Amino acid sequence: MKSVYNYDKLFELGNVDPKVWSSFTEHLGRSIYGGIYDPDKPFSDENGFRKDVKKAVKDLNLGVIRYPGGNFVSNYNWKDGIGSKDNRPKTMDFAWSSVEPNTFGIDDFCQWAEEVGVKPMIAVNLGTGDIRSAAELVEYCNHDHGTYWSDLRIKNGHRKPYNIKYWCLGNEMEGDWQAGHMSAADYAKKAREAAKMMKWVDKSISLVACGSSYEMLPTYLKWDETIMKDLYPYVDYISTHNYNMNSGQGTLNFLSSWKQLDNHIQNTKNVLAYSKSLQKDPKYQNKDIKICLDEWNVWNMQDIKINNLDDLNGMTTFELTDAKKWEEHPAILQEKYSLLDALTVGGLGITILNNVDQVEIACLAQLLNVISPITTDEDGHLLKQTIYYPFELLSKYGRGTVLSPRVSGDTQATDYGDLPVVTSATVYDKEKKQLHIFALNTDLNNDAKLDLNFAGFSKVTPKEQIVFTGADLKATNTFEKPENIVPKTTTPSQDVANLSLPKASWNVINCD
Ligand code: AHR
Repeated sequence: MKSVYNYDKLFELGNVDPKVWSSFTEHLGRSIYGGIYDPDKPFSDENGFRKDVKKAVKDLNLGVIRYPGGNFVSNYNWKDGIGSKDNRPKTMDFAWSSVEPNTFGIDDFCQWAEEVGVKPMIAVNLGTGDIRSAAELVEYCNHDHGTYWSDLRIKNGHRKPYNIKYWCLGNEMEGDWQAGHMSAADYAKKAREAAKMMKWVDKSISLVACGSSYEMLPTYLKWDETIMKDLYPYVDYISTHNYNMNSGQGTLNFLSSWKQLDNHIQNTKNVLAYSKSLQKDPKYQNKDIKICLDEWNVWNMQDIKINNLDDLNGMTTFELTDAKKWEEHPAILQEKYSLLDALTVGGLGITILNNVDQVEIACLAQLLNVISPITTDEDGHLLKQTIYYPFELLSKYGRGTVLSPRVSGDTQATDYGDLPVVTSATVYDKEKKQLHIFALNTDLNNDAKLDLNFAGFSKVTPKEQIVFTGADLKATNTFEKPENIVPKTTTPSQDVANLSLPKASWNVINCD
């Protein structure tokens, strides 16, 4: 099997924004409590932040981390999470049927984010929250001093404003599972008014409109078209979410589901192009809204039972099979990831790279303990799950300019049509003059040949090939065997037109 990718130095798709390698932590399960924050433990620092987690997160070199939700945010009153920890209320989190202790809030998150060298991206509650509270949160975080909320931040021990730049106007407001769910027209109006007020407080902020995510909903994309009529002048990004599930479609189809993400992004691109063409005001006719893929991952829903899937016009409800109701930070959504999941995540990462012309923010959802690359236990151990590795390598080498290829060669039939056996993305680091090739061989039975041609480059020499593969696609990493499945560094063929990819493998080939 051979796949041919023809590149030309001049055919640049776009630069990888540092925010393309971002993540997400939600007040959900053990993501915050037991993940970031585990006070009074020998393995945590004086602020209660886990030291092992801080190191692992720093190593990922993330652009932004989205916080505090997710579905959680639509129930959340950020004011419950500030001030003395002794006085903070325990509240019901209706999104995940948990008890929220509020001992971790916006100040704690911003302090932690600074320590791990990541910019916060904060979602405001546009479900049950009001627009004044959204503007007050911007005032609390970004206004220097001299007003009630900015002075309260100072009183709470944080003299300097956080200057948070990225703000999400709600979460998944198109879904009836969302507290305060509303129609697209109602959302557009509320988001517009919130945007106006938030920008009155700080005009330098960038705003993310809440786009549609779930393809099975009748409002998918129509939602985006409607909201963008109102919101185009006010926002900088539109969000979408995409989770890929191994749900009995067969290994090849699951591994090829990068194509589903590609189609999904393409759909959002199309709505944006349409919305742009409707702009009458010359000020906005040249304005480009970018895509914020603020939740993406493989999510096999190992402990979720969804009801009413066939009846999406009725109420969509789900049950968490690993927890009773109203526990504090229950161990829910703690997905165990296999090698196959990791290869699929690698394919999704390749797809994100091949869409950087419009995807400027992408958050792997999530970061810690909940559908996550990093898992912790209660005794101070940290586990890198299989999906950690492709994400780490994408973040490490997927920086620079993505080149746009012409692809030919062998294809195979999948649920998504005939697809190249190998899917690949190439990033050119102009400063270091290095090329990084990411390649997924979806052939489950045969090694593949990858023939790369680079017009305009003097000579491209492969130096190392990092290969992620294994005999058992179901294998996982566990606390007992933490390095069961890790990528291996090998020496590739010196000929970039004759690279070899093991069957069912995800690879990074680093070239000078
Ligand atoms: O990431 C878990 C959940 O998935 C988020 O809370 C929600 O936004 C999405 O549906």
